[in-house]
Amino acid sequence: MRASWVVMAMVSAAALATAADPPAQALRGQAVFFDEAAGVQCGNCHALKGKGTAVGPDLSRLARLSPGAIVMAIRASRTEYVQTVKLKAGGEFPGMPAAKDDTSVSFYDLSAKPPALRKFDPKEVSSAKENSTWKHPPSTAKLTAEQLADVIAYLKFASYGDTKGVNPADTQ
Ligand code: HEC
Repeated sequence: MRASWVVMAMVSAAALATAADPPAQALRGQAVFFDEAAGVQCGNCHALKGKGTAVGPDLSRLARLSPGAIVMAIRASRTEYVQTVKLKAGGEFPGMPAAKDDTSVSFYDLSAKPPALRKFDPKEVSSAKENSTWKHPPSTAKLTAEQLADVIAYLKFASYGDTKGVNPADTQ
């Protein structure tokens, strides 16, 4: 009897920990992440907790890094995945590789807002190579230190339930 009580108490404590309400800072960050008003709409290209569109990399992988390291990743001017996709029929676009099999190859076209998924016969693509001109939108958006701290607080809360918050001074 007593043992099952302990187990129940542990289960409900765990349930409480995961069901915690987002702190005010994470809520502000969520608004920057998804709302058009903030001008960047990270959620057009990144998904967190099933919200948003996973065009770019999964951000929860970086969530445990220090705020300064996350800001460096957000502001990075070199791209690691985005390619310049050239089509045999003419034309090119900055493309984030999406899916590939024997009969098709897909990219998110980052010149569209929000990015558009485009699927091709591999024969239609003349090349897909490193892109050095595409700019990650928040690298040029004028996000304040407070907004960056809020976004990172949301990223940490949504990824692993962190409620400590982020000091804007740590984003510089
Ligand atoms: C138009 C689409 C788009 C928007 C908007 C966007 N991102 Fe990205 N993001 C990407 C793409 C694509 C990459 C991968 C770039 C590359 O090739 O390295 C990326 C990379 C990142 C990375 C580095 C990830 C890694 O694994 O190295 C972080 C962090 C990030 N974005 C955060 C954000 C945040 C925060 C916002 C909003 C303030 C945002 N992004 C808005 C498309 C976008």
